[in-house]
Formats: sequence, C-alpha cells, structure tokens
Amino acid sequence: MRLLFVGDVVGSMGREIVHDYLPKLKRKYRPQVTILNGENAAAGRGITEKIYKSFLQDGVDIVTMGNHTWDNREIFDFIDDAKKMIRPANYPEDTTPGKGMAFIKVNQLELAVINLHGRVFMAYLDDPFRKIEDLVDEARQRTPLIFVDFHAETTSEKQAMGWFLDGQVSAVVGTHTHVQTSDARILPQGTAYLTDVGMTGPYDEILGMTKEQVINRFLTQMPTRFEVPKTGRKTLSACYIELDDSTGAAKKIEPILINEDHPFGGDFE
Ligand code: FE2
Repeated sequence: MRLLFVGDVVGSMGREIVHDYLPKLKRKYRPQVTILNGENAAAGRGITEKIYKSFLQDGVDIVTMGNHTWDNREIFDFIDDAKKMIRPANYPEDTTPGKGMAFIKVNQLELAVINLHGRVFMAYLDDPFRKIEDLVDEARQRTPLIFVDFHAETTSEKQAMGWFLDGQVSAVVGTHTHVQTSDARILPQGTAYLTDVGMTGPYDEILGMTKEQVINRFLTQMPTRFEVPKTGRKTLSACYIELDDSTGAAKKIEPILINEDHPFGGDFE
C-alpha cells in the first residue's frame, strides 16, 4: 500500500499549496491513501467544517489533529459526524468527542490511522504508550497496515514511540514541531519512522506564525498575539511511505519538501 502524509497545514497559505500541489504529488507517487494533519488549518488554530470538507475535495482521505484540536469551537458541531477526521486518541476516553482511530478501505485492504498526543512539554493527556498498546491490539484484529501520527514536542518522546512500536505498526511519523527532520528510516522490525514530517504553509515565517511577532515576544517577554500571514512564499512538507500489504511492514519512506529551495520537478511557482 502506498501512503502520502502531509504535515501540519497552517492557515490559508498552507491550504493553497495543498490545493495546488496535491494533484502533482498524486501523479508522482500514486498514493492509495492520503493523510493530512489539519490542526493548524484555520488561521493556525484548529479547523472548521468548511476547511475539513475542502481537504476531502482536494483528495485527502483522513485528517489528523493535535493539541490545537479544540481551538476553533466550530469543531464541536461537526467532529462526531466527521468520519474522516481523527483527534488524539489519548484524550480522556469518556468525555471527549470524536475518535482517535479510523479505518480506511483500499480495495481488499484496510489501513488503520491513529492520532496520538505527546506529554512532554505539552498538556498532560492519558499515557500515549499505554493507549497505543490497546489501539494496536484492536487494529491488528482487522489489519496489519497501521499508520500513527504522533503529535509531540520532543524528539526523545517521538523516538521512544517509534522504537516502542517497531514491528507492531507500519509507520510512526511525528508532527507538531513544524520543521522536517532528516532521520527518515525503517526500523529493524519494519516500522517506518520520521521524527517530524514538517509543516505546510508560510515559508519565510517562524513555524508558520508572523516572524516579527515571535521575535517581539522573545525580545520583550510581553504577551504578543501570534498571527498567520496570508501572503508570501509557501512550503509543503510531507512524506511518502510504501508498505508490504501482507505483513504491514514498511518497504520505503521518503521525505518530501516543496518550496523555492526544493522545487518540485523543477516547476515550483
Ligand atoms: Fe501542534
């Protein structure tokens, strides 16, 4: 099975470059499932129903979320009906709307997609390691093809999750820190791993936020409102993963970066 995963889409510029480049990426990689992290899609904070639907129209199969899941309150109106959206699975089980795992059918095959949230330097949710054990047990009764988006701050927690799940899932790919890491690999028992896939949106800013505002916060230590710019150069971060259909083991993981410094097939506009 061939998968494409697009990293943290930030604001309108992120949505625009997804719209422009997803068809080109699909032509090149022919993914059977396209997953996209959309927790920053609505001006950096959460997602709206309209944006969620626009991603599906652009050819996204599953939208994953993260620590900003609830920032746009519109989500409470549609998350329970949004079959193709998952939020971190380790929110408290009995009180959290939405779901943390989704299954998607591709011909005779099925892929489980799981979203998890780290706990180091972030909100202290339920233990993602214990939670994923239960979810993997559940998923493996249906399919060995399992993709995990681990939305976490620290490299160590992400690496720990990768090694913890090696041989149990097809891929563990990190999100949240917005800068693509150069450590894509297949772990010894067959799990594809990448500490962070990177972000999709403004290229000349700081993690997608207006850089002057971020610099000002560092200079003054005063409360500063961070905004997502609407114009400027864009970047897209993603990865392509190929799986063995019968075992679920990864055969390939390839990071993808598209921007003026990394032109896509020489035709970046
Ligand atoms: Fe995040």
